[in-house]
Amino acid sequence: MIDNIKNYLKEVEEFNPKNPEELENFRIKFLGKKGILNDLFQKFKEVPNDTKKEFGQQINHLKQLVNDKINSLKDNYNFSKQPTSDTLDLTRPGYPFNLGTRHPISVVKNKIISIFKKIGFSVADGPEIEDDWHNFTALNMSEHHPARDMQDTFFIDKNPDLVLRTHTSSVQIRYMEKNEPPIRILSPGRVYRNEDISSRSHCMFHQIEGLYVDTNVSFADLKQTLQFFTSELFGKSEIRMRPSYFPFTEPSAEVDVYWGLETETDYRITKGTGWLEILGCGMIDPNVLKNVNINPEKYSGFAFGMGIERIVMLMYQIGDIRMFTENDIRMLKQFSTEY
Ligand code: PHE
Repeated sequence: MIDNIKNYLKEVEEFNPKNPEELENFRIKFLGKKGILNDLFQKFKEVPNDTKKEFGQQINHLKQLVNDKINSLKDNYNFSKQPTSDTLDLTRPGYPFNLGTRHPISVVKNKIISIFKKIGFSVADGPEIEDDWHNFTALNMSEHHPARDMQDTFFIDKNPDLVLRTHTSSVQIRYMEKNEPPIRILSPGRVYRNEDISSRSHCMFHQIEGLYVDTNVSFADLKQTLQFFTSELFGKSEIRMRPSYFPFTEPSAEVDVYWGLETETDYRITKGTGWLEILGCGMIDPNVLKNVNINPEKYSGFAFGMGIERIVMLMYQIGDIRMFTENDIRMLKQFSTEY
């Protein structure tokens, strides 16, 4: 037995691998589960008592030697892995960095935010899981108000007071509850509606909402603001406001921008009219101001809201809303020059 160990010691001392694989085989041979050392420790139990001491010492010595050998050789290999003048070719082209791209929704969202920042708007945030008060009731939509049907909603089963917000208007309420006028905010974010998924509609999409409350805010201010916005974003400042209805604004309007009829695409997307609907807006209903303890006799304001997907689809001629969430790299890469 002891002789056996002596042979192993000799083998370890003389071991001189030519490559890392040999070193790894050596490690497995000695230290592996079924390796020599485990085997020796097994046999140790059977040796007679009088040789136990010497045998034990020898095994430990062997183990130590194997470990030292491996550690010192490992360092050698790390060292020899460094490129030398034989292996290092400085004329090879480098590997290109694979830069990510911003999602088109973020690109357009950022564009819209930067436009409104120029005229004093800042960004406000709110939760996507809302309560009934902020999503509906405070916005002048009481429990059985028919306008709730306009926004087919996902309710949280276990708690009927909770909804996935159907619009970003809930952020208006949250912000006005906590802040005094003058208020100038934009609230971008995800919204959810129980819609069938098709090329034009999705159960999750993005909106961006604007809110302006101060003394003497008029409909003319609203129109001027939107005109500034459309000319900055699309380079088109001709807009028209069609009367519409939202429970939280009075009067309310849909805004169309004159897109023109220069190309075939213009004809197609404007259905031959030249006009494109881009957002909903209106003067804040006094009831909404009362709900958030802002005096409607003193203050007035306007709000507007738009779907970001719709705007992106227009700007980049994307034909299917589902593409935004399919994460097809080929589509996303096309936005690599946008920020
Ligand atoms: N919240 C409305 C919607 O989702 C849009 C809107 C916002 C209309 C603000 C008027 C004012 O349909």
